[in-house]
Amino acid sequence: MLDPVLEAKKKAVEEAMKIVLDTKRDIMGIGNGSTVDMFIDLLISSSHLFIESYFVCASLYTARKLAEAGFKVLSVADIDTVDVYIDGADEVDPQLNLLKGGGAASTLEKIIASASNLRIYIVDYTKLVKKLGVRRSIPVEVLPQALSIVVKKLKEKGFGVYIRTLKEGKYGFVIADTGGVVIDVVPPQNIDPLELDRELKSIPGVVETGIFTKDLVDIVVIGYPDKVVVSRRII
Ligand code: A5P
Repeated sequence: MLDPVLEAKKKAVEEAMKIVLDTKRDIMGIGNGSTVDMFIDLLISSSHLFIESYFVCASLYTARKLAEAGFKVLSVADIDTVDVYIDGADEVDPQLNLLKGGGAASTLEKIIASASNLRIYIVDYTKLVKKLGVRRSIPVEVLPQALSIVVKKLKEKGFGVYIRTLKEGKYGFVIADTGGVVIDVVPPQNIDPLELDRELKSIPGVVETGIFTKDLVDIVVIGYPDKVVVSRRII
């Protein structure tokens, strides 16, 4: 029997694919992570339905996987509008604000999502939370030259700060594809996601945060072991 979380993800991925097939998909944005990987596997097995599509990717890993499978991949620099964006998320709150960046790709993910007409996020039921950041810390990408200054300023403001390090393959910090150092922060108190995002980005040297406020979200497809729920943001 399949692991219940995997089963839930698989169901959500299949539902998301149905939505995509009903949508204009000349230019598709693709995020990063294990859920997106499952979506790409499904894309590969239905590649004849995506012959006309171009893909822009939030990570080198995703871009390479799609290119190797024969899909047409564009650089983010080549586009200014995306028809439909597909990604995963680490946490989803009841208002459909998201926390992302577990895979250190949230800066490009956010940039592509901001240029997309329809943003679809695929999650399993374990990603649902009452409040963002309660279960995990907030990923933040920092310009390398500004690392010490940003860490000091965050600590002065009462944040817990952890510089993300790799477990294998390199001895040292996690550097995003965009060149920034990925740190994880814990806010001193519960703050509204929009306010927290603004506060973090007011520090010079902070490139982006993993907080995706609900204005960057249109649909969240939530998989359970026995069903799928499609939540749409109420505008
Ligand atoms: C990548 O930076 C992230 O934003 C991922 O989308 C997020 O971590 C979800 O990843 P999984 O699909 O692997 O849970």
